[in-house]
Amino acid sequence: MAKGKILVIGASGQIGVELTMALREKYGNNNVIASDLREENELLKGSGPYVSLDVMNKEMLHVQVIRQNITQIYLLAAILSATGEKNPNLAWHLNMQGLLNVLDIAREEKLEKVYWPSSIAVFGPTSPKKDCPQQTIIEPTTVYGISKYAGEFWCNYYFHRYGVDVRSLRYPGLISYKSAPGGGTTDYAVEIFYEALEHKKYNCFLREDTYLPMMYMPDAIKATIELMEAPKEKITVRTSYNLSSMSFSPTEIGAEIKKHIPEFELSCTPDYRQAIADSWPQSIDDSVARADWGWQHEYDLARMTEDMLKNLQR
Ligand code: NAD
Ligand code: SER
Repeated sequence: MAKGKILVIGASGQIGVELTMALREKYGNNNVIASDLREENELLKGSGPYVSLDVMNKEMLHVQVIRQNITQIYLLAAILSATGEKNPNLAWHLNMQGLLNVLDIAREEKLEKVYWPSSIAVFGPTSPKKDCPQQTIIEPTTVYGISKYAGEFWCNYYFHRYGVDVRSLRYPGLISYKSAPGGGTTDYAVEIFYEALEHKKYNCFLREDTYLPMMYMPDAIKATIELMEAPKEKITVRTSYNLSSMSFSPTEIGAEIKKHIPEFELSCTPDYRQAIADSWPQSIDDSVARADWGWQHEYDLARMTEDMLKNLQR
């Protein structure tokens, strides 16, 4: 348990809602402070403290860290790949300055730990497509990927230069039903479930044979908490860990949904997001995370599909 309180920045987002709930369950409701630029998510209301906060306002962030006795920060505020390509300057500004503000305050206030997620988007067209290893050629072509890659090296720098215990995972595309995704290229794998249940059909914005690394949210939350709980000496990667559980194409997830909803029809009309998806690996080798801190996933495509449909139907 943290000596003080935990601050989650970007708590109303796709990951933030579930991570905040999981952290509250583990460490106690009042020890986890949710914060976001937008209003508190409905699912979080009444479950613990919430503050309205802009991560770009370093002074206000610093005041909150001191006032609330924060000793750990989970920084989730960012602009994702598809939205980032529409506004590259904004994506770079938020993704970089937000991180630097948090790292600086962590150094000045000697915080215990910081969590900041990276992404499979760090990889580019020159990285291996299959089982992309932890260390390989990394030449991202999206502004989101560039910001994540630069961010990884800022984390590494703050750890080695200032001793800030910052930890990171390269999440694959995340699939969840509690809070909507926020503008990524992998969002189709969430939309498809809503459309399958409501309209029995879905027109995907990626080509039917586009394989991408994906993960069900409970696995992502489990990995995040396990990484943060791991003894410091087990963490050998101070940029960001590869993390993996499944890889599938629109055709494959469509076929899995059809097992539950036989009338379901998938069509595909690729848009600008196809180029982003084509620049990323199809699958990830996460053996370093498995060896260092014992990472093991629980959900494959079949189990995730069954659980998504069951929960969305409720
Ligand atoms: P999201 O867009 O759903 O949530 C981000 C939250 O940050 C939003 O609630 C937003 O209001 C908030 N925010 C934006 N600007 C802010 C600011 N200036 N100050 C405070 N809050 C602000 O994103 P997400 O999917 O939950 O992603 C969280 C993190 O995980 C990001 O760093 C993202 O790059 C990373 N990630 C996500 C995925 C995924 O599939 N969801 C995959 C890889 C990495
Ligand atoms: N799901 C994210 C995106 O598509 C990957 O980081 O942007």
